[in-house]
Amino acid sequence: MTDITFVRGDITEQAVDAIVNAANSSLLGGGGVDGAVHRKGGPEILAACRDLRASRYGRGLPAGRAVATTAGRLPARWVIHTVGPRWSAAEDRSALLASCYRESLRAADELGARTVAFPAVSAGAYGWPLDDAARIAVETVRGTRTEVEEVRFVLFDERAYEAFTARGR
Ligand code: AR6
Repeated sequence: MTDITFVRGDITEQAVDAIVNAANSSLLGGGGVDGAVHRKGGPEILAACRDLRASRYGRGLPAGRAVATTAGRLPARWVIHTVGPRWSAAEDRSALLASCYRESLRAADELGARTVAFPAVSAGAYGWPLDDAARIAVETVRGTRTEVEEVRFVLFDERAYEAFTARGR
């Protein structure tokens, strides 16, 4: 059984086996969670991302996929980079958002990670409505078979924390 927990805070400070980064396809950094991960984790993470671009993901990591690197100077051991879909009113991209959670847990299982922290993927710069992002996140984790013992949702602000805990009850 996977425990699902919710905390308000900064994902880069979590002492878990792996934290999930809300990255973009380039894997080369950005704002929000991604900016904080690279800023606080140091250049080792970016170097690993550049290697991945040069080897497996020449055209970038597609939305819905996940790949792990070192966590550099962060307290976690690994960073699992996933690329959320941008919100679209015209097209239902929820399957891609669900895939981010499933694929990240699969990467965690491959690493042997037992505790994993997730941010609200796609709910920032990518514009996904918070309540729906929370529903997809919690339902997908609940419905995924994994060896991960704790999935910790780390929410940056009160509104996100409320939206996620409402789904966790
Ligand atoms: N810890 C936890 N949550 C955070 C943190 C943090 N340190 N910082 C922001 N959040 P976003 P996205 C929250 O924009 O929507 C980047 O430029 C934030 O309030 O980080 O998937 C990438 O490079 C929001 O609720 O990710 C991509 O280009 C949630 O985390 C793009 O943004 C996700 O916000 C990805 O956009």
